[in-house]
Amino acid sequence: MNQPSQEDRAVRRIAVAFGLSTLAGLALAVVYILGGNVQAEGILLAISLGGLGWGLAEWAGKLMSKGPEVGDYEDPPPPGDEEEVAEVVAEGWDESFGRRKFLLRMMGAAAGAMGLALVFPIRSLGPSPGTSLLRTAWRTGSRMVREDGQLVRAADLAVEGVLTVFPEGETDQADSQTVLIRVDPALLASDEGTAEGLIAYSKICTHAGCPVGLYRVATHDLFCPCHQSTFDVLDGAKPIAGPATRALPQLPIEVDDEGYVVATDDFAEPVGPSFWNMDR
Ligand code: FES
Repeated sequence: MNQPSQEDRAVRRIAVAFGLSTLAGLALAVVYILGGNVQAEGILLAISLGGLGWGLAEWAGKLMSKGPEVGDYEDPPPPGDEEEVAEVVAEGWDESFGRRKFLLRMMGAAAGAMGLALVFPIRSLGPSPGTSLLRTAWRTGSRMVREDGQLVRAADLAVEGVLTVFPEGETDQADSQTVLIRVDPALLASDEGTAEGLIAYSKICTHAGCPVGLYRVATHDLFCPCHQSTFDVLDGAKPIAGPATRALPQLPIEVDDEGYVVATDDFAEPVGPSFWNMDR
């Protein structure tokens, strides 16, 4: 029986390496689909990558030409043997191309299996937030309520009074918390979106999201206790001190026929430390 050549043994080793890598890649995908296991995923990923690397290293080291080879010319075949020589050469080429095709397929399968497994972690990013970062629970006509759910009438708030309010039925929506303040209407830079001196701003600091709950009457500003950002209540809650760079979004409001304070729309801008300026 013929002993396998060195090249044949190399091809077998490469096939085993790529095969192992393929199986590990598929197993990694299955483990991920079944809920994941960090240890198993790590081992399978190592086998998958290691198998691919081993196969490529063997291929490069054992099957590829090392460079120019120098040697004596063999004597030309005797006249009449050219056909036989051509046949032998053609067989060699066929064998070589067949082997390469086989190994390329094995390598493709290994790379494909690993690529498939690596696609699944994208699911770990969770569901798309959609427009949830841009909208709150405030809608046109939402009546304001206190934290205990009690409706807010315009008459409930004296000048320089302040309340934390939510949309009716949505007191568990943290992104909708709002400070409602009554000031002398004559002091406001603009009365747009205000009603009878009542003005409403998001309570979530635009710096890092702390509640901006401290209203300083003397200076008519809202103060954030976390990093001392200060917002001018009379002028669109623009930041006038501290690290915040964006005004607190204003909630447009009106007073309805029964005297309740209602929103006429959602906030004009996303509330809180929005994703585009989170690091400021
Ligand atoms: S969170 Fe308000 S100043 Fe930083």
